[in-house]
Amino acid sequence: MTTEGQVTVTWLGHAATRIEFGGYTILIDPFLTDNPATPENMKHVEKCDLMLITHGHDDHFSDAIPIAQQTGCHVICIFEIGFYLRSKGLENVTEMNKGGTVNWNGIEVSMVNAIHSSGIVDGDHIADGGTPAGYVIRFPDLFTLYHAGDTDLFEGFRDIGARYRPDVAMLPIGGHFTMNPSAAAEALRMLGVKTVIPIHYGTWPVLTGTPDELIDAASDIQGLDVVAIKPGESVTDSDLV
Ligand code: NI
Ligand code: MN
Repeated sequence: MTTEGQVTVTWLGHAATRIEFGGYTILIDPFLTDNPATPENMKHVEKCDLMLITHGHDDHFSDAIPIAQQTGCHVICIFEIGFYLRSKGLENVTEMNKGGTVNWNGIEVSMVNAIHSSGIVDGDHIADGGTPAGYVIRFPDLFTLYHAGDTDLFEGFRDIGARYRPDVAMLPIGGHFTMNPSAAAEALRMLGVKTVIPIHYGTWPVLTGTPDELIDAASDIQGLDVVAIKPGESVTDSDLV
């Protein structure tokens, strides 16, 4: 599926995503070592320049600290997760919050809302991870990608669509912990997005939603492209827009 492009998006399984552009590597929600969906040869990360964390649950966060320690990458996250990371010794952290935009080497990273929870399991207790987020990442003159993190359907999708005008959305479809395919179809209508990469399904049997169910549920959306790549597969900006 990969063709020539300037931005390469690789789904690493579950919500974990790698984005490469201009020599930089960005990781979103690094859950790799214990991720049953991640191809074996992608579990070990050599290079990371920027990490975005949507929330504190293990299935998004469990490799965040080791990768940040090993690579020295910059981490962008919500205030409370930043506080937690600093308490573990990380310093290269930019805390932000919803509504904010950070310019990182020419790309614009905006934090948006998500409806979910965000506790961080730390030993025998749960540390405060603030509230869950999604990210809109604008690659100027190329495209704008929205990674929703874990979320249910919520009215805020209309606002995200209107304010940030994403071209491509990575949306959870597995159900149980997030929205299911029919709710994700409604999210697409509210966002006004025509290209979707389904995520957060198939990792475990409980996440039953499938891309085929999304295609059925969203069959009324003219021109919709459901880009159902498999874990480990990549697409580029020229595949997506
Ligand atoms: Ni979660
Ligand atoms: Mn999750």
